[in-house]
Amino acid sequence: MNGEGDVALWDSVWRDHWYSKNALRTRRAGQKAACIRDPILRILTSNQAHVCEIGCGSGHFLKAVSDFLPPQTRFYGCDQSASAIRLARQTTSEVPNVALSVCDAGATPFPSGIFDAVFAVCVLEHVEDKGRVLEEMRRICRIGGYLILFYSSRHSAFRLERVLKSSLRSWKFGYQDELSARQVLELFRSNFSSKGHGTLQGDWDFPLLRSVDFLISLFAADWGRYQYYLLERVS
Ligand SMILES: C[S@@+](CC[C@H](N)C(=O)[O-])C[C@H]1O[C@@H](n2cnc3c(N)ncnc32)[C@H](O)[C@@H]1O
Repeated sequence: MNGEGDVALWDSVWRDHWYSKNALRTRRAGQKAACIRDPILRILTSNQAHVCEIGCGSGHFLKAVSDFLPPQTRFYGCDQSASAIRLARQTTSEVPNVALSVCDAGATPFPSGIFDAVFAVCVLEHVEDKGRVLEEMRRICRIGGYLILFYSSRHSAFRLERVLKSSLRSWKFGYQDELSARQVLELFRSNFSSKGHGTLQGDWDFPLLRSVDFLISLFAADWGRYQYYLLERVS
């Protein structure tokens, strides 16, 4: 569980910060959804899949995946921040079959094994004590279902910026870490089998640092702002 400080911090980010602006969120969610569209369409073969995004923020990722999933899909989203869920209700107002709730990702109201896919998009890196959230994601995903994650990469110039800002106390997004693909896969090793992962470039604010990432990525394929992961629940 995150502390009350984190909830208040994210509430204020979603209320006031440039980060919450509709155009930015739409663009970033669109990039992420596009990069995992094909694997999602391959694994979600039922027309009536149940999918859930934990830490759904303003709901733009749910909206973006709803654009290519069948209209009978049931969408669920939850976030610890009430301001986020208020925005998410607006963002997804035209998505059929959507249910949103304010709750901690370590203690959701969902029955066990109900979801065909659970998304966590740039959320786990903001959870310091990850054990309960990881266990909850396992619980609500059915055996044979999938976790689809985006996680800030340790191999990105972004890490330098974040560490520097954290040490100067000018980092605005609370707890944050960055992990390598090996470290992320290790978190899920006991119950999930990796069905692939990749790197997403761009999607952040400083063109100079983004260019550094791009240049390094020409020589190191796993270098970039985010890694994404497809993990099948096997036990
Ligand atoms: C970086 S934002 C990402 C939001 C959204 N997934 C997106 O991609 O735009 C992280 C979100 O995770 C939420 N979050 C962090 N820890 C959480 C927890 N323990 N339970 C529920 N939500 C959490 C925050 O409130 C915030 O809305």
